Amino acid sequence: MVYNSALLLLALSFSLSPCSVVAQTNGTGDLFVFAPGLGACGIANNSTQLVASVSSTVFFTFPNATENPNKNPICKHTLTVKSGLKTVTAPIVDYHVANSAEDVGLSVPGFEKFANITEGIITNVTWSINQDGREGYSYSSGNAWRRGSVE
Ligand SMILES: *[C@@H]1O[C@H](CO)[C@@H](O)[C@H](O)[C@H]1NC(C)=O
Ligand SMILES: *[C@@H]1O[C@H](CO)[C@@H](O)[C@H](O)[C@H]1NC(C)=O
Ligand SMILES: *[C@@H]1O[C@H](CO)[C@@H](O)[C@H](O)[C@H]1NC(C)=O
Ligand SMILES: *[C@@H]1O[C@H](CO)[C@@H](O)[C@H](O)[C@H]1NC(C)=O
Ligand SMILES: *[C@@H]1O[C@H](CO)[C@@H](O)[C@H](O)[C@H]1NC(C)=O
Ligand SMILES: *[C@@H]1O[C@H](CO)[C@@H](O)[C@H](O)[C@H]1NC(C)=O
Repeated sequence: MVYNSALLLLALSFSLSPCSVVAQTNGTGDLFVFAPGLGACGIANNSTQLVASVSSTVFFTFPNATENPNKNPICKHTLTVKSGLKTVTAPIVDYHVANSAEDVGLSVPGFEKFANITEGIITNVTWSINQDGREGYSYSSGNAWRRGSVE
């Protein structure tokens, strides 16, 4: 199964109710192959780049989430996914609509560190959103820190 870029979903309106929801910044769920495009964070990535997506629930309940997804501070953070002894970290660029709020997505270069792409899904991975946000970060001012890593 492949999660597509959230672009087509931008027409849906999400009502933000920051006082009634608790931010979820770590969890255990299924890992899917995420197909990047022009994502909710407002930047265009492709399947050769190591990038990540989280569920719409996690995206829109992130602390200080904005109605405009492009300005969501989650877009300045990376996601770390662990399964067995392997760890992959990648910048969050989009959200997906998932069966479980705890499902996460990694583009091909990330997913294939865990399994053959043809498997499509890896169950029971643990994930966390890193406290690595950069205030004032902009794409024009260099983004080396934002590239993911594989261990
Ligand atoms: C995971 O999130 C919970 C709240 O949902 C928090 O209490 C806990 O400290 C977090 N754990 C890590 C490792 O960040
Ligand atoms: C994602 O796309 C942005 C803008 O096109 C680019 O600056 C960034 O380096 C890309 N991310 C990765 C991990 O390649
Ligand atoms: C992905 O984007 C990068 C940076 O814009 C570009 O160099 C590369 O050719 C693109 N790859 C594909 C498969 O589109
Ligand atoms: C949310 O925004 C407020 C006001 O700018 C700031 O004080 C607070 O630290 C932010 N919270 C997080 C988790 O970034
Ligand atoms: C992935 O699985 C397919 C189908 O079983 C196989 O043809 C391919 O060689 C595998 N790729 C890798 C990198 O193992
Ligand atoms: C999921 O992984 C945790 C450790 O990360 C393990 O304790 C648990 O038994 C696993 N559950 C399943 C269904 O594999």
